[in-house]
Amino acid sequence: MVGKPLSKPSSHLEVIVERDVFTLARTAADLVQAYMSTTGEPRLGLATGGSVADLYRNLVLRSRKGWLDFGGARIFLLDDYVGLGRSHPQRYANVVMTRLARHVDLDPHRLHAPDGDAGDLAEECSRYEDLVCRSEVGLQILGIGRNGHLAFNEPGSCLESRTRVVELAEVTRADNARYFPGPEDVPFLAITQGLATIRQAGHLVVLATGSSKARAVRAALQGPVTSDIPASAVQLHPRVTVLLDPSAAALTRFGPA
Ligand code: F6R
Repeated sequence: MVGKPLSKPSSHLEVIVERDVFTLARTAADLVQAYMSTTGEPRLGLATGGSVADLYRNLVLRSRKGWLDFGGARIFLLDDYVGLGRSHPQRYANVVMTRLARHVDLDPHRLHAPDGDAGDLAEECSRYEDLVCRSEVGLQILGIGRNGHLAFNEPGSCLESRTRVVELAEVTRADNARYFPGPEDVPFLAITQGLATIRQAGHLVVLATGSSKARAVRAALQGPVTSDIPASAVQLHPRVTVLLDPSAAALTRFGPA
């Protein structure tokens, strides 16, 4: 049945298959709204990318209608590219500012991201790790890469990893090339929250849509917890909601028969 929690493979992981990406974005926005309206100073963790584009639009709409108040909120990004330059439109901090933050009256000082142009990247990683840990993110939105990455934790990432500089996998650079003038313009490096950092958030909400994600989704939810599929680390978290469209769910036991 579409739109209802279909099954709980364990007591803490809920999988919901929605009929299309718009319904999925609405359900994700419902979760964000419920979290923000019951929390004095919401600390929202956000991913960037295609999977969350409709969610951002939905949040902007709800904010315009007065259903959501970002006044007291803080937003923490999962990751950002290294070396793009502070004004580059594809720098994730700028993407979230343009697509979301500025439309919901979020104070720019309350949008936090790792600085991929910092002079000392190691120091920047430890600054951001400390900030995220101290801030105690309540709800974390996540996407999954085609290769099973989570944030920019590529296959091979330690399940206990913390914020650090990583090399992007070729498939990730190829997938993200659509946002750049050419494939050669996609950075090779990024700063990402680690898999252990991400698991500190109170509630993980994972969004995946489209058939290109189906294998990674199956491996992440039904396979062993392994560094080969970093998104499988969500199985270690006590509270996870996974939102899928039928194509992304197709190879799982939650997909259409
Ligand atoms: C980006 C991020 C990535 C994306 C993933 C899916 O902040 O953390 O893990 O969530 O690459 O990207 P899309 O949604 O573009 O398919």
